[in-house]
Amino acid sequence: MNLFRTKSIEQMRETAAHSGMAKTLGAFDLILLGIGCVIGTGIFVLTGVAAAKYAGPAVTISFMISGLACALAGLAYAEFSSIVPASGSAYTYTYASLGEFIAFIVGWNLILEYTVTASAVASGWSGYVTGLLLSAGIDPGHALTHVPADGGIINIPAIFITLLLSVLLIRGTQESTKLNRILVGVKLTAIAIFLLLAIPHVDTMNWEPFMPFGVSGIFGGAAIVFFAYIGFDAVATSAEECKNPSHDLPIGIIGSLVICTALYVVVAGVLTGIVPYTELNNPEPVAFALRYIGYNLGSAVVGVGAIAGITTVLLVLLYGQARIFFAMSRDGMVPARVCKIHKRYHTPYIVTVMGGIFVSIIAGFVPIGVIAEMANIGTLSAFLVAAIGVLVLRITKPDVPRTFRCPLVWLIAPLAVLTCGYLMYHLPWETWVRFIVWCTFGCLVYFGYSYQHSALAHPHDDEE
Ligand code: ALA
Repeated sequence: MNLFRTKSIEQMRETAAHSGMAKTLGAFDLILLGIGCVIGTGIFVLTGVAAAKYAGPAVTISFMISGLACALAGLAYAEFSSIVPASGSAYTYTYASLGEFIAFIVGWNLILEYTVTASAVASGWSGYVTGLLLSAGIDPGHALTHVPADGGIINIPAIFITLLLSVLLIRGTQESTKLNRILVGVKLTAIAIFLLLAIPHVDTMNWEPFMPFGVSGIFGGAAIVFFAYIGFDAVATSAEECKNPSHDLPIGIIGSLVICTALYVVVAGVLTGIVPYTELNNPEPVAFALRYIGYNLGSAVVGVGAIAGITTVLLVLLYGQARIFFAMSRDGMVPARVCKIHKRYHTPYIVTVMGGIFVSIIAGFVPIGVIAEMANIGTLSAFLVAAIGVLVLRITKPDVPRTFRCPLVWLIAPLAVLTCGYLMYHLPWETWVRFIVWCTFGCLVYFGYSYQHSALAHPHDDEE
């Protein structure tokens, strides 16, 4: 058995060049794609929860720690994406460096990441929309807007938005990125309105005590708010639809990460500056904070912006999920039939439909708390492996062209491994158990199907 067979980088470049996907994205689109995915449920919901329950006003530091972990891993991602411009992000990179088996497990965890995150985000969308409808005097009914564990039957709004966005993604990346641009604009405007209204009301007394839960609270908070950063790596999954991936992808990844981290730290600081952190544990802390200081209309406007923000997050997650599945099926890891490209729209429609259905089933019936926890561990593990992979490639393929070289790679990549590993360590043990079960299931799939069907096991089938 050869579990560590690697795919050649030249072969990947070749495959990417002939994938049939339309190449329409530039660096600016990618930055927007990143912002579209990163700023959502995290900033609009989780900031308050993390401040109230984990870190207090020092949640700003939690955001910096998580942001640092992402930036370190992001630099490794950026180098990889400039070497291997192919769909699939960390999965593809690992395939070229650490070999097939580890790549499969990384891909398997990325599917977990995107699926559970998208499901949690769809539930969050449903929560905001239901809240907005209720405040407009329209009661959609508890049974049809809540999962069984929360006393309902089915979460229809969550299913509705997931399927709607999946259809949009099938229609074409270009249409979807147009919608993304508009919605990113709306959510950035909402955040700007929040900051403009709130900054004059900051009372520094609210920042005391700054670290009510100590240093461990800050790290516990960082492990939780990491969710807010999930998605920036989705930019790297779009390599085959970029006009100039080697140049644009690193700009897209690092650019969107820097902008998002800055916004998170500022919003978290202002939020905990206008409301005592103990009051922030509610489903809409940003809107709540504006009402707290007397801006009811501003609060409603920001609520609408939050819905727009969460929509873009879901759009990019569904996009990324389909692209990873697509990359894995093309390599024979999962049945090749599913990666068929639509003749008219040039998108991988079967995986998009499958992913959308899967996400909507989870979002429709499973409580948000159970699914959200799983997202962080899957993502952190993929980041960790990618950081190791970039070092391996520096040794095994020192001469392959790199448009972007990770600066101080022997410092940055090990630090990425340490910070991601440390955040994983801070996640609850139940999450670890579920994670191990998921990985074991993945091993069964790999040894039961993927190993035999891998394209590397049938090198002469390409000509078919
Ligand atoms: N980072 C995404 C969010 O905050 C998942 O919603």
